[in-house]
Amino acid sequence: MQFSTTQESATELAASCIVVSINDKGQLSNAAESINTAADDYLTDIFDSGDFSGKTGETLMLVKVPGITTQRLILVGSGSAEKDISPKDFIKIAESAAAAIKKSGALQAALYLEDIAVANKDNAWKAEQTAIACENALYLFDQTKSKPAREAEDYSDSIENIVWAGEADLQSALEKGQAIARGVSVAKDLGNMPPNICTPTYLAEQAIALAAETGLVETTIIDEAELEAMGAGAFVSVSKGSTEPGKFIIMKYQGADDANEAPHLILGKGITFDTGGISLKPGAGMDEMKFDMCGAASVLGTMVALTELKPKINIIGMITTAENMPAGNASKPGDVVTTLSGKTVEILNTDAEGRLVLCDALTYAIDNLKPASIVDIATLTGACMMALGTVNSGLFTEDESLAAELQQAATHSHDKVWRLPLEDDYQEQLDSNFADIANIGGRLAGSTTAACFLARFTEGQSWAHLDIAGTAWHSGGKNKGSTGRPVPLLVNYLLNK
Ligand code: BES
Ligand code: MN
Ligand code: ZN
Repeated sequence: MQFSTTQESATELAASCIVVSINDKGQLSNAAESINTAADDYLTDIFDSGDFSGKTGETLMLVKVPGITTQRLILVGSGSAEKDISPKDFIKIAESAAAAIKKSGALQAALYLEDIAVANKDNAWKAEQTAIACENALYLFDQTKSKPAREAEDYSDSIENIVWAGEADLQSALEKGQAIARGVSVAKDLGNMPPNICTPTYLAEQAIALAAETGLVETTIIDEAELEAMGAGAFVSVSKGSTEPGKFIIMKYQGADDANEAPHLILGKGITFDTGGISLKPGAGMDEMKFDMCGAASVLGTMVALTELKPKINIIGMITTAENMPAGNASKPGDVVTTLSGKTVEILNTDAEGRLVLCDALTYAIDNLKPASIVDIATLTGACMMALGTVNSGLFTEDESLAAELQQAATHSHDKVWRLPLEDDYQEQLDSNFADIANIGGRLAGSTTAACFLARFTEGQSWAHLDIAGTAWHSGGKNKGSTGRPVPLLVNYLLNK
């Protein structure tokens, strides 16, 4: 899809499809007004007759409207006339418009959405979100169907050109949105890919391919044998029960002129399938534990977006990846292992494996990669999902400025986070009679004790933890699938650096 901008009026523009908005009181946007005038009140007649109510995201396709040059005109409802519309509503409007363009089969469309006043957001934000919505509308996962849906006759995935119509030149906002959407799509594909295909080795291959294709990333793989030799006992305790070898994946992007400038590091949990191990999970819905690598997927997606946007800073995308399986040689509840940091851990529940693969990766990153900051992203706890549902990812950090940066990026991208406590007062829940620390902290405050576990391995480091258990995928039913979150948040956070 190509994006461009135009200052041309809606009545004169030679586009095969034009999108204009009308609110729920029948008030026309400027572009709709000019069309209405040229078309002898056609649009106001439609509203007055009740065929279009203008409610948020409602669409109506019109063809061959008299008085204008375009073949197709899509009306989109902009909702309440009383107040500025919310960012969420604007995204809904853009998504509905994109869906209507796709359905129309138009190869090219111009969107006149700048007139819609969105609370606290400027036109660049609207253009960025619209680009994301248009790219997302074409997302489809059919890689594992015998007859790919995109080869079916009635399937159209062919929007070729999107034109943003407005006053300002917002080309770079459109390109930013497009890069974010590509990153989201990469993350979705990886998340949706079945776990017999998307193994730790597969993730490593994707990272190697990114390096080869862009020439902008240097990828290093540390395999399980090296990790064992290094002393990453917590990581190995998870990975050893699987026949799929685990790995650390390190993707270095150098955008700063100075190669020695300390990098900002993002670290993703990549459990390509989480059975729970010997602390086996119940069977119902267990297939969704293929999504336990969505943190890793968001890191890869973010790196893809960054290679397009080329910010002038140094960034490292790191993934800690393994499969958590029950086996004769798997870890047992009660096992004590020595982490890469030297601290010992009593594994009271083998299903609390995320923190085990993360703690050694954090130690490795801090000691060897010397990052200016670390943000880890993990589908870490069911408890976080219980607390925040599917709306917000959990944000845990004691670094106030890092918290502010992440919250700002979350607000901008509407990829929301909610701060949850990370306090020493909870640490005693992790006390163990037999090791320095236990890997579970009891029933209460489960997402905080998981974060507290990680905090033991990040002392003195600028670090934040995002628990994306509730936000990384849509559960069950028809909607089941990866969301690509928090790629929009991460890209914005890093660009702001
Ligand atoms: N990957 C899961 C967390 C999870 C569960 C995410 C369900 C999304 C939906 C994680 O490895 C896990 O099993 N966590 C346990 C921790 C517990 C044993 C302390 C959990 O949340 O139940
Ligand atoms: Mn688990
Ligand atoms: Zn897990």
